[in-house]
Amino acid sequence: MKVVVSIGGSVLAPDLDPARVDAFADVVGQLERAGHTVGVVVGGGTVARDYITTARDLGANEIELDQLGIAVTRLNARLLIAALDDRSESVPSKSYESGHEAMRRGDVPVLGGTVAGQTTDAVSAAFAEYVDADLLVYATSVDGVYDADPNVEDGATRFDSLTAGELVDVVADLEMNAGSNAPVDLLAAKLIQRSGLRAIVLDGTEPERVARAVEGEHEGTEIVPAGD
Ligand code: UTP
Repeated sequence: MKVVVSIGGSVLAPDLDPARVDAFADVVGQLERAGHTVGVVVGGGTVARDYITTARDLGANEIELDQLGIAVTRLNARLLIAALDDRSESVPSKSYESGHEAMRRGDVPVLGGTVAGQTTDAVSAAFAEYVDADLLVYATSVDGVYDADPNVEDGATRFDSLTAGELVDVVADLEMNAGSNAPVDLLAAKLIQRSGLRAIVLDGTEPERVARAVEGEHEGTEIVPAGD
């Protein structure tokens, strides 16, 4: 199976712990040994947010802030690249094309952000579509998609499964409520809907869960293409 794994920055590097990054590299190795082709997209997490907040106070404009965010995602991508050693390219792929080429050569592409105006949620969906992935796994700091923000609403319920259209509706509602965080943003949800990708949103704080999810065992939310 061809799998794209999206690792949130807050999951890969909430702090700088080599053991955690190594554990994600081990999961990539495990998936490869099981015969899967793997690509990875890495987010910026709290470090990106801290840089963005600081630079905003310094008067940087929104595009400059996005570029700063992209730089941090690529720093995190380099951490994973260091752990993957010679199994990946030596630098983060800056485009879907170069990531795909790396994959075809048998290397593991590791992407951070690509262009301003989006997040790595959308990069992951677009890259998965570009390489014609069978599965996209979002390893996030929440354990799935809820009908409301579980950090705000006590009674929020997690979906076991959603169609991509339902995901778009849920995420659009969450994004309209100020302060609510969706585990996957609206652009990503729309890309998933458009492409007909199968995706799983899960708690990635234990990297091993990603490997289990690819083998069909997970407790997160599965996004199924309409019609399935
Ligand atoms: P992230 O993908 O980490 O943002 O990119 P996020 O979704 O807020 O982080 P998580 O999921 O909670 O960890 C960090 C920032 O980098 C810029 C955006 O400003 C984004 O908020 N970015 C990232 C881009 O402009 N383009 C990209 O392709 C990726």
